[in-house]
Amino acid sequence: RRTFAIISHPDAGKTTLTEKLLLYAGAIEEAGAVKARAGRQRDVRSDWMELERERGISITSTVLQFRRDGTVFNLLDTPGHRDFSEDTYRVVSAVDSAIIVLDAARGIEAQTLKLFQVAKARGIPLITFVNKSDRPGLPPLEILDDIEEQLGITATPVTWPVGSGPDFAGVIDRRDHRFWEFDRTPHGGRIGDERSRPVAPSDHDDPALTRAWEEAALLDAVGLDHDQESFLAGLTTPVFFGSALWNFGVRLLLEAIVAYAPPPLPRPEVDGGLRPLDSPLSGNVFKVQANLDPRHRDRIAFMRVCSGVFERGVPLVNHRTGRTLTTKYAHSVFGRDRDTADVAYPGDIVGLVNATDVAVGDSLSVEGDAEFPPLPVFAPELFRTARSADTARSKQFRTGIAHLDEEGVIQALRTPTGGEREPILAAVGAMQFDVAVYRLREEFGADVILESTPFELARRTTREDVETLRAVRGVEVAERANGETLALFPSRYRLEATMRDHPELTLDTIVRV
Ligand code: G4P
Repeated sequence: RRTFAIISHPDAGKTTLTEKLLLYAGAIEEAGAVKARAGRQRDVRSDWMELERERGISITSTVLQFRRDGTVFNLLDTPGHRDFSEDTYRVVSAVDSAIIVLDAARGIEAQTLKLFQVAKARGIPLITFVNKSDRPGLPPLEILDDIEEQLGITATPVTWPVGSGPDFAGVIDRRDHRFWEFDRTPHGGRIGDERSRPVAPSDHDDPALTRAWEEAALLDAVGLDHDQESFLAGLTTPVFFGSALWNFGVRLLLEAIVAYAPPPLPRPEVDGGLRPLDSPLSGNVFKVQANLDPRHRDRIAFMRVCSGVFERGVPLVNHRTGRTLTTKYAHSVFGRDRDTADVAYPGDIVGLVNATDVAVGDSLSVEGDAEFPPLPVFAPELFRTARSADTARSKQFRTGIAHLDEEGVIQALRTPTGGEREPILAAVGAMQFDVAVYRLREEFGADVILESTPFELARRTTREDVETLRAVRGVEVAERANGETLALFPSRYRLEATMRDHPELTLDTIVRV
């Protein structure tokens, strides 16, 4: 099994690459199906998806499972919109590796960098795919430098592009020095022919190949070769060049996922030990989604199986609450369709329907003994004061806010002045507010009014520091229902000044990892 995510800046080609991986794995016969499928589904979906349609974005992460030869791939989709949401981060924490997709013309972009930091914090190995090599782009050596400089990780190219832009002809596989040529098919819909031949220095009649060969020889000389150990340690990233649109280099990438990406390994537990894969069933909830399908009005907890074998119907104990839940309604989720999941193995994702009282980060197991470390929660960057538009519905308002906070849609912060009547909603991406407002209205019947706040930054702090922080001008201290304390700052300047004046204070960026 390979459980992985594809992370990229919007438009770099994540959707196209996902589809091409499905094509090469034989899960679909012709590319274009995923988009068509999404189109068809959209017709029957109503209110909740309405927001997605309005904004033209995908809010819900989905899991794709496909097979090729003896390997089962679990591809977790990270929401592909411009705004970050906390979901994106959580998905990264549920995978064993990730593919970073870069646009050959743009190199590392802001959001790639952010996601990379998350992956790094979790120690997840990364494979890089430089996409759109069929278009005029940056010189490949410059892309390697960019990776090195911006991500602080050494790029070890496994393939090297021959020609660029419209003359992009294929790649040299540096492992065996063969030149792979690819045939284009109409719109790249089907798999085209691929041929390989050894590259020889005598290829002088082809300037692009000669140039690529010389560059590859240079890389050989400096020893920038893939090294499995340093890749697994997150120190290096193997780089593949290609074009997802034209299927160039996609097969080589898929094979590399099998060859290099790690299989599910024993997961660390809170007590510092590793839970063996063959120990009794356990899993970690990394995402909770309500009303994924309005026809069902349900709530699905997505659990990554960490050990044992999941069989539908097995009762699971939630370590946090001590309560047992039934898994009669478990689904594996393919896109937005649901198949009933009967059996799942470590690395697989199971959607537990109607898992009430299950929150993001919960550890579930047959014996109730498993406890995995908390998921990362990031210091929010956006803040709005919320209040009920109709005082007669303040109960619905409070219930709704509590639900969305527990589900991780937004973080609800209580300040001494606002209390529960006017909590501050905090988010990592602006879209989280849209989702919160929409769901408060649709699901809880509470219209809300959001107002701007003077705050721009938050840091996690401790109870002991509250008094000192409250004395600083412009700073507010708020609490979350889970007991965490956050200090809110009106500007970076104020934050830095506070850190300078009070070096003893705890002010953490990442709330929990
Ligand atoms: P995303 O999920 O990362 O946001 O990117 P997506 O795959 O949707 O790709 C963004 C655009 O880039 C799409 O064009 C897609 O066709 C194009 N693209 C993806 N891979 C390649 C590639 O290897 N070469 C070239 N030349 N283009 C590529 P679009 O016009 O926005 O959409 P569409 O009308 O083609 O679907």
